[in-house]
Amino acid sequence: MGLAIGILGLGYVGTTTAACLLRDGHRVVGVDVNPEKVAAIGEGRSPVVEPGVAELLAAGAREGRLSSTADIGPHLDRLDMVLICVGTPSRADGKLEMTHLLEVTRQLGRGLRERAPTGEPLLLVYRSTMPPGTMERLVLPTLAKLVGEGPGRRYEVAFNPEFLRESTAVEDYYAPPKIVIGEREKGITRRLLGIYDGIEAPLFEVPFAVAEMVKFVDNSFHALKVAFGNEIGRICASRGIDPQAVADIFLADTKLNISPVYLRPGGPFGGSCLPKDLSAMLALARESGLAVPVLAGAKESNGLHLAWIAQRIRELAPPPGPLLLLGLSFKSGTDDLRNSPLLDLASLLLDAGYELDVYDPDLDPDRLVGVNFAVALEHQEILLAHLRRDLERAADGARLAVLGKPIPGVRERLPAGLPLFDITRLRHGDG
Ligand SMILES: NC(=O)c1ccc[n+]([C@@H]2O[C@H](COP(=O)([O-])OP(=O)(O)OC[C@H]3O[C@@H](n4cnc5c(N)ncnc54)[C@H](O)[C@@H]3O)[C@@H](O)[C@H]2O)c1
Repeated sequence: MGLAIGILGLGYVGTTTAACLLRDGHRVVGVDVNPEKVAAIGEGRSPVVEPGVAELLAAGAREGRLSSTADIGPHLDRLDMVLICVGTPSRADGKLEMTHLLEVTRQLGRGLRERAPTGEPLLLVYRSTMPPGTMERLVLPTLAKLVGEGPGRRYEVAFNPEFLRESTAVEDYYAPPKIVIGEREKGITRRLLGIYDGIEAPLFEVPFAVAEMVKFVDNSFHALKVAFGNEIGRICASRGIDPQAVADIFLADTKLNISPVYLRPGGPFGGSCLPKDLSAMLALARESGLAVPVLAGAKESNGLHLAWIAQRIRELAPPPGPLLLLGLSFKSGTDDLRNSPLLDLASLLLDAGYELDVYDPDLDPDRLVGVNFAVALEHQEILLAHLRRDLERAADGARLAVLGKPIPGVRERLPAGLPLFDITRLRHGDG
């Protein structure tokens, strides 16, 4: 026996969802402010063009499981769940227009006040894309005010972002990359999974803001990938190199390129290769008279990231500290100081007036050779006056430890209660 589900907003997302829920045997009430869409759904016709949707809607309508209305209020008594799929279009300032979302939330709040309390709270599932904080700061307070009580008894609330793409929406509905559920408490809205029966995908039950953010991160990344791919394509094409031949090899590398490597928030990039070769790539673009703001932006962003880290440190422990910096070479397991962001960070912190102790088990200044030695000479003050071999003594009296790269076993050796800012994860807390 299927569920009775209300769908608010009969655009691409709402209509596709209605079609797929009908196919899965549920009953659907479609709701929209647009009378043409309400009429279309009422007649079992699709208001949008999307492969497969019209057939599924027509079949559901023939079986008497599809209806439509302009006002959800009177239907709430008979529904198990409401999916909110109204539009959140862009405003001129880039922010999302939240008026439709607010309007339907008000309607639901007013309707819920009238709804006879049944055994289970009505599950309100927000699927529209919304900025982080919307559920906590807009949706929940609006509902609580209009219903006269918070979630738990008469209603429960989930944010369940939609990842389908137009033109393959039905296919994507049944094969989502993941199921993300934002909720007040982990697992509290698990009955939502009733509509995902038979769909295999990794499940993430997380706080509202994490789920809200994920959707923006995904689409920003997709946009970044297109822009990156096209900048590489422009550079290749302008030099007579086949862009697709380069892309074939680039994409075949699933170890370092198309992989999670280099994607987790953490420290800036550095070392002897990334900064050098990125600069060389920018020089190629310049030579070809091309503007490549994504690639140029990567360099600029890296510098800004280091400045942001220094600012975070100031907020956590203002100068003069004292501070303990854990790590100086550009990554773990190497003593390479060339283009090390941690060396730059140490300089920034000293310039800002910090008392600084540095500990790096990968580094033995007596063993540095070649260019690495030259870099060390350039920064000899740090190496001679601030680098310590004894971690315990270096940590003594510090107000904050800053972990610049993974150092096995180092946390356990820090004094209990010494706050730690972990640059490798952009998190802070007790060591
Ligand atoms: N289109 C996509 O591929 C896609 C994919 C994932 C997520 N999303 C997100 O899902 C949401 C819906 O997207 P869409 O493309 O279906 O939008 P859409 O513009 O096609 O449809 C939105 C519908 O909401 C209706 N609506 C507005 N106010 C209403 C109200 N008060 N009551 C009832 N209905 C109301 C509109 O009349 C419209 O029919 C957006 O937040 C969007 O960002 C879209």
